[in-house]
Formats: sequence, C-alpha cells, structure tokens
Amino acid sequence: MSHYLPLSRVARLVGQPRSEIQRMIHNDELATFDGMVDMNELLRVFPDVQWEDDGEFRRVQEIKDKAFGKRVFERALPDKEVLAERLFELGKEFAAAKTLLLHYHEVLRFMGDKLSDVAETGDASTQNAVTQLKQWLKRELNAAPKEAERAEALLAQESVMRIMSAQVTIQPSGHEFFVEGNDTLLEAALRAGIPLNYGCSNGNCGECKARLVSGQVRKVHPHDFVLKEAEKANGAILLCSNTAITDVVIEATVYGANDIPEQGITTRVKAVEMLSDNVAALHLTAPRSQRLRFLAGQHVTLSIDDAEGEYYIASCPCEDRHIEVHVCRDNRGFSRKVFVDLRKDEPVHLVGPRGEFVMKLDSRRPVLFIAWEDGFAPIKSLVQHAMSLEIAEAMYLYWAADAAGHYQDNLCRAWTDALDDFVYQHMSSVSGPQGVAEAILAHHPDLRRADIYAAGPAAFLDALRNGALAHGLSPLGWHGEVVQL
Ligand code: FES
Repeated sequence: MSHYLPLSRVARLVGQPRSEIQRMIHNDELATFDGMVDMNELLRVFPDVQWEDDGEFRRVQEIKDKAFGKRVFERALPDKEVLAERLFELGKEFAAAKTLLLHYHEVLRFMGDKLSDVAETGDASTQNAVTQLKQWLKRELNAAPKEAERAEALLAQESVMRIMSAQVTIQPSGHEFFVEGNDTLLEAALRAGIPLNYGCSNGNCGECKARLVSGQVRKVHPHDFVLKEAEKANGAILLCSNTAITDVVIEATVYGANDIPEQGITTRVKAVEMLSDNVAALHLTAPRSQRLRFLAGQHVTLSIDDAEGEYYIASCPCEDRHIEVHVCRDNRGFSRKVFVDLRKDEPVHLVGPRGEFVMKLDSRRPVLFIAWEDGFAPIKSLVQHAMSLEIAEAMYLYWAADAAGHYQDNLCRAWTDALDDFVYQHMSSVSGPQGVAEAILAHHPDLRRADIYAAGPAAFLDALRNGALAHGLSPLGWHGEVVQL
C-alpha cells in the first residue's frame, strides 16, 4: 500500500528540520517520488520514531519559539468551520477507502466462486493447484500487514496534522509553508517569511491575487469584489481573504528586493529595550492595515519630528507587525531621542525598505552569517529569516566585536541550543579585519558549497571576500553589506 507524504509534513512527523530531510534525500538516504516520501520508506528510514508521541517535535518547536525572542506564535485551533470542513474532507477520504475495501472484498468473493467452478470442472492437478492458491490467499489475507502498528500510528498522526494545519506549495518557486490556526494564506506566508505581493490585507486592492492550482480553500473574509468573474472561473483567489482547507498548490510570485515598493507608514513604539550601555533595541508596531513589506537584511529611515536616522531592521519579516531596529548611542537627534525620552505608543514615521542585502531563497547550501560589531542587526534578521524558512543545510554565525560589543550573545547561544545544525562563535575584533577574517576562514577550508552573508566595515569585507574566494567560494555565493549608517 502506498501513501505519499510531502517533505514538510515528513519533517514535522519525524521532528527534524526540513533541511535535514533534504540532506538525507541529497545523500540518497531517503528515497522520494515526485518530491514526496512513501510511507513505507519513512517507516524503513526512521525505525525508532514514536509516531504516537509528538512530544519531541513540540519540545524543539518550543525551544525554537523561545530563541526567536519576541516572536509570537498563535497555536490556536483553526476556526470551527474550517475544522469542520477539514474533518469532512478526511471523512470523505475514509469513506472512499472503505468503499474501495468493500469492492475488493466483493472481487475476492467473486474470485473464490470462480476458482471453485474451475476446480469442479478440472482434473486432479487443477483441483490441487486451486486448493493451494485458495489456501495461500487465505493465509495472506489473514496475516497482519507488515509493520501494521507503526503504519497505523503514522497515518493517525498525519491525519491529526492535516486537521490542524494545511500545507501550501507555491509555484513556480517551490516554497512551502503551513497554514495554522485562523491564518489566511497571506498571513501564513508572511509568518513563514515568504515575501508575496500584497497591499491592503483586507480584500480591497487585489494586490495579493494568486491562482489556485489544486486543493481547496475557504473564504474567511467576505471581500473579493476586486476579482472579475472570469478571473474567479480561472482559479483566481485573494490570499488575504482565504485559508486552506486541504493541502493546496497556488501560483504566485515570490518577490525580490527590487520588487518591493518604498512605503511610508506611521508605527508606534512598543518598547525601548537596553541591550547594552550603548545599544538599544527599538521595538515598533506597524498599523494593522498597513504592515511593512520588507525582506530580511534591508534598512529603513525612521523619524520623529525633525530627528531622523537610517537603521537596519533586526527582526524577521515573519514577525507580523513587529519591527525591531538597533540604535547605537551617538549625538545624532534620533539616537538621543531613543536613549533619553522616547515613550511607549509614541509615533515613529518609517520610510523604506531599501537595500539588496537579502537571502537567496533558492539556495540550499550551508550558510555562513558574519557580523562585525553593529553589522549584527541585518545579520540577525537574516538568521531569523533563514530559520523560519528552514532552507539551509547548516548555519554558522560569527560575530566579531570588542569586549562589550556582543550585546545579544545569549540570543545567539539560544539559537545554538534550539537548532541541530547551527553553530555560533563570538570573536574578538582586536586582531583587526584581516586577523578576524583569517580566524573565521580557518574553520572552513573548503567553501565551494557555501553562501556567505557578511555585514561590517569595507576593510573587513574585503579581507573576508578575498580569503573566502581563495577557499573556493563561488563569487555568486558572496553577499556583503558595508554597514556605515
Ligand atoms: S492585500 Fe489587498 S486584496 Fe489582498
């Protein structure tokens, strides 16, 4: 019996990151068919996994959530109507399976009668052969299927997962994400850090239009009057107005840095958090109706009255309305305001995003994230984005700073604890750009299969890039950002 499962769900079932599953496929340790894994193959490759207990998956997820710091996950049940439809779909599947079983039962009974007819009219050797065939059939039908208990537990676990969440695959990019709780397709994509096009988030502008290729969606917000009837007939849906009932495939464009228009929004101060004597994290909340579209690694202009500053966003686009920037203490007006008298709920005007220091979403190679002092802000955003997408095979984070400069060391250590393939090392910047670059590269003698994202002063980036290319890094794998805001 074949039952195929998509990779993202396999990762959840076995409590492993998706990148680990991809590594196993890459190394021929796990076979796939059309990008799916057969249930029997899953049982073979993971003989020790307890399917009836998702405790391990929950534990990893909890640690991961904690490591994200401010990120808020809604672990709500889906809306009761969505839940009812998913149960109905599952019921239909079971009904179809049962009907098929009854049909097989009938065919078997018919075959038994036919064989008896043949035996009655045949000679002794025919009768003997028919008797043996009937005995064999009886034995096989009465025998318990191979690994029946584990297969049952796996199917039960997978069914529960499909009721709680639906998987979405985007064509042609191949990105995947889960729709959980009461999220719309748009909210779930943004939560997963996948930059899809959108505008109003409430069904009015039509910017989030996509095409439903397969699966079932349900309208959770009433508006879709911007869609023409002909478009609807052709499968067009608004991602901000629909949720997924079953696993779905949609056709939509995943945007790059240059596709995102500059936006001007008025945010509110949620908190000013002192990360060290000289660095503060400014937590801002975007309006519900005008969330900021940006990619990890980009920067924005912030202003309060006539005080203005340019800052990298240090949070992940997957954090919904939350935007975090790191502000260094200096004599400029905006910094003074943050360190002296910025109050909760005060408005801060934001214009942006800008910059092309963003993740290459189609690369699955190991990634080195490297920050020099306050170049950490865009690197933090990129790390969190990479974590939410679970695309890199392995991640290494190096942060060079002076003795007091690793102002979020604990957060980086929490990432190491939470993820299997994440290595963090803080480094002293006293040996200078060349010395730090050499110390990092000494850990990576062969960089032919790697991507590097580095943010810091030009001298450091030059030393690092030259050294990395000498270690085999492809020029396409280099992503450097001179941080001098
Ligand atoms: S974002 Fe405006 S209609 Fe969906």
